[in-house]
Amino acid sequence: MCGIVGIISSKEVTGRIVSSLKKLEYRGYDSAGIATLVDGNINEVKCEGRVDTLEKDIGKFNLTGNIGIGHVRWATHGKPSKINAHPHSSDQVSVVHNGIIENSTILKKFLLKKGYLFKSQTDTEVIAHLVTEYLKANPLKDTIIKVLKKLNGSFALGIIFKGQNNLMVGARRGSPLAVGYGLSENYLGSDSYALKSMTNKISYLDDGEFCIVKQDEIEFFDTHGSKVNKKVMNLSKNEINNDKGDYKYFMEKEIDEQPSTIKSCINEYVDKYNNQINIYNFPWKISSIKSVMLIGCGTAFHSCLIAKYWMEQNTTLDVSVDIASEFRYRKVRFKKNCLYIVVSQSGETADTYAALDLCKKNKMKTCAVVNVVESSIAREADLVLPIYCGQEVGVASTKAFIGQMLVLYILSTKISFDQKCITKREYQAKIKNLLTLSNTAQKTLKLDQKIFNISKVFANSKGTMFLGRGYSFPIALEGALKLKELAYVHAEGYPAGEMKHGPLALIEEGMPVVVLAPRDEHYKKTISNMQEVIARGAKVLLITNKNKDEVISENVWEEIKVDKLDNELIPFLMTIPLQKLAFYSALEKGYDIDKPRNLAKSVTVE
Ligand code: G6P
Repeated sequence: MCGIVGIISSKEVTGRIVSSLKKLEYRGYDSAGIATLVDGNINEVKCEGRVDTLEKDIGKFNLTGNIGIGHVRWATHGKPSKINAHPHSSDQVSVVHNGIIENSTILKKFLLKKGYLFKSQTDTEVIAHLVTEYLKANPLKDTIIKVLKKLNGSFALGIIFKGQNNLMVGARRGSPLAVGYGLSENYLGSDSYALKSMTNKISYLDDGEFCIVKQDEIEFFDTHGSKVNKKVMNLSKNEINNDKGDYKYFMEKEIDEQPSTIKSCINEYVDKYNNQINIYNFPWKISSIKSVMLIGCGTAFHSCLIAKYWMEQNTTLDVSVDIASEFRYRKVRFKKNCLYIVVSQSGETADTYAALDLCKKNKMKTCAVVNVVESSIAREADLVLPIYCGQEVGVASTKAFIGQMLVLYILSTKISFDQKCITKREYQAKIKNLLTLSNTAQKTLKLDQKIFNISKVFANSKGTMFLGRGYSFPIALEGALKLKELAYVHAEGYPAGEMKHGPLALIEEGMPVVVLAPRDEHYKKTISNMQEVIARGAKVLLITNKNKDEVISENVWEEIKVDKLDNELIPFLMTIPLQKLAFYSALEKGYDIDKPRNLAKSVTVE
């Protein structure tokens, strides 16, 4: 959440800061800003809204400079506005910040007494004034050490100083920060995406560290100011894929890419010739793992929920699932024979990272299922299982959800075989089924027109429900989340069997309800639950799969049938119409599909 970029160079930096900020917009798009030094003086341009607006304003003010910092914001303290946009500056320094300063109220009182005036409602502004205050009596490096000690909470910072054309400072606690190495210029960035177009050589600050970045040199220090050496990493040259091709929206493109991302992921893990799953570098004996704890946020959490069903069904593992923001503050009884699996598309989600960190501190076995392999989470975990779905730009996760489920299904199947819970024949049959998934997903995409028509009712409804049992319950949650995120329609995902314990009271005449009822062992029960909501006036969209004994479900409003497939794999197919439903509902309402209001793709605050 929020994106930082900083450049120090012998050349003009403004244009490059703006283009890097555009690549960071997935982290926040409430407001944006930039500060540079012109003749040693701090000059700022800030705006509410997108980087495109900032770019126009920069043109108007003709902002130049060889050193500068920029920011895209996702509001925490203070509403999105020009005044609350970063950078925040005093007459001496200018600061960009990701994270939250938890003791900002106390620090503000202290600074007000000293006579400092505050312009914004942000927590960040205290940093600018605190640095200014300490600079009065301390050299720059000591100032940074003292200021960082005063701050509680999480932060990644970029700071420039009046009259100091030759340096900028970066600091990190909690929120990630990278530095990049260029030719006679160096960079700061909240992640590698910010820097990839300028360099492929980067280092990441570790927690508590800060750095002084000059044109030809970068020095790193620990909390106490002792120098530390940093490893320089080579980034893969993959540029951010900002190309929508023939599509108008990334989300639509990413939904349609799913058959091919399924194929790429399967190719990485499945040896088709020997009909086996390969998970290289699996560092533990399978017999040493008796239980699994799956942790994630948002859509990633839903993929964890579904993995619980697969793992319980096919292995002897004890499986628990938790939301990262809950897990990190629970009194967890850590178990040596448990594998802690964190799932995250971005690999930067603050709560998921903290959950992983907690497991590491307790010396547990850790595994990360991620999309971004250079991310903080991927760097920390003992075992990394990438989902290989390529960059996901749309804020609401689609192809990454399919990728997360796929990797967890593959892992579950492999463990199941290694634990001898299934025979070789069963194992190979599962792999064979898996290999058909991409084609069946492709066919599911063709149900488009029907969903387009149905979506108008969902888009214009006051509230909706998504119901399912077994594997379909987490998919119902995901379907509801997609509709909330994109179409801003109140949507609840519920286990179909639980409706009678309360939510049935919400059903009223004409309310659209999605019922997920694949032809599995829950089918009849789910259909009964469906009739209960229909009897109370609901307009039911039934999503099921084709079957020999075609039963026309009575009284349903609309029916969508995905292909027949192994029951365990049906959740992949059920997901696709729900993604499309949310997409078309948002389209109907004319909303910003790739950047829904109030959300961000990478949530780096807790
Ligand atoms: C944000 C995104 C969601 C995502 C969640 C977890 O809320 O908008 O789409 O599921 O973060 O993100 P992660 O990167 O950890 O999967």
